[in-house]
Amino acid sequence: MLNFSLNIPTKIIFGKGEVNRSGEIVKDYGKKVLLVTGRSSTKKTGSLNKVTMSLQGAGVDFIVFDQVEPNPRAETVDRGGQIAREEKCDVILALGGGSAMDAAKAIATVAVSARPIHEYIRGSKTGLWKELLPIKEALPIITIPTLAATGSEANSGAVITNWETKEKSGISGPALFPRVAILDPELTYTVSASYTADGAVDMFTHLYEGYMTGDENANVQDEITEGLMRNAVKYGKLAIDNPEDYNARAHLLWTSTLALIGIANSGRGGSFPVHQIEHTLSAHYDISHGRGLAILTPAYFRQIIKKDRPHRLARLGRQVFNITLDDDAAACEATIEALVAWFKEIGTYDTLKNLGVKKEDLKLMADETIRVGGLGQNSLAATHPLSAEEILQIYEEVY
Ligand code: NZQ
Ligand code: ZN
Repeated sequence: MLNFSLNIPTKIIFGKGEVNRSGEIVKDYGKKVLLVTGRSSTKKTGSLNKVTMSLQGAGVDFIVFDQVEPNPRAETVDRGGQIAREEKCDVILALGGGSAMDAAKAIATVAVSARPIHEYIRGSKTGLWKELLPIKEALPIITIPTLAATGSEANSGAVITNWETKEKSGISGPALFPRVAILDPELTYTVSASYTADGAVDMFTHLYEGYMTGDENANVQDEITEGLMRNAVKYGKLAIDNPEDYNARAHLLWTSTLALIGIANSGRGGSFPVHQIEHTLSAHYDISHGRGLAILTPAYFRQIIKKDRPHRLARLGRQVFNITLDDDAAACEATIEALVAWFKEIGTYDTLKNLGVKKEDLKLMADETIRVGGLGQNSLAATHPLSAEEILQIYEEVY
């Protein structure tokens, strides 16, 4: 096991009805709140109403910023940051999926520094990110996730898209750890089957990427990862079949948080190449992150088992999909088949062409994945590098 340091300072409050305590919780962190949320779902589902009632009940002053789009954009973040500054907000409350929570973290940064967020985006052409990361100053952040997928509720990262330059990449730093995450599984009842499935694939992908690319002598982490992958598969399906199954929603939400707060990957040091290959897709085509991951995964596995530790994928198949074959090569094939069957079952099996991707853009996107994603901590080069040619082959295989 590799040396590591792990600090998870976010206080987690989990359970049915906990959203109604948001006012009393937020009150401890500031006097004026910028409530950052998406454009429509929290109004339709009533979760925004629950939170604003609770803030009012606790006598907390707030402004709602409801402009965050899926795959949140730099210009939206800059607008939110400006409002937070002008209105002298001293705490940022995020309500929504990964997009609202990531935008809230970026807004909390811009609110303090008054710098445009694109300067912080890792790998960006225009940025000063090498000087500005890790982010050490931001307004206090509190998160209330409404979708189980990204773990953004309790980690120190955010992913922002600069639509003008077609760059989607991360910002991170200790100041971005939320002070409190309020996890109320009932808020996720209304997530559509399609986004529930994409979320399950997202947490699953984070888990397998560290597992496939990191140090092999970290069995505790491997077994935690395998358990979390089994839960993503099991409870993802149960939540799709019965959206108001509290137990399924609770397990799925907790799995996503645990998958992305560093516990599974610490001491293993894995990297996240599939995420970076997908981020280029979302940056150019604004597609759902989890759907992109599902499309890429079978081709990624086919690509890497040619050269890199097929016994890891074989173990994944045996532990997560009950593959009983002893031969590693046969077990790898059976694992990929089991994954495809899972994606078909939950409705995430798709092609790039079907999502409107143009074939002539594949080469550019492969090169951009290396340029934007090929630097920094989670780099493609961190453990087992993929070349632009191999990334292009992956895109072509799933076209
Ligand atoms: O846009 P609104 O109106 O809010 O509706 C959203 C959106 O359309 C809707 N939704 C959310 N909660 C709902 C709901 N609909 C009904 N009922 C609810 N309770 O679902 C749609 C997708 O929401 P979004 O927030 O975009 O999804 P997700 O949570 O998957 O977040 C994706 C973003 O997170 C980034 C992704 O790259 C992507 O930009 N990631 C962030 C990470 C992090 N901070 O650690 C890691 C992840 O790997 C990921 O890269
Ligand atoms: Zn992800």
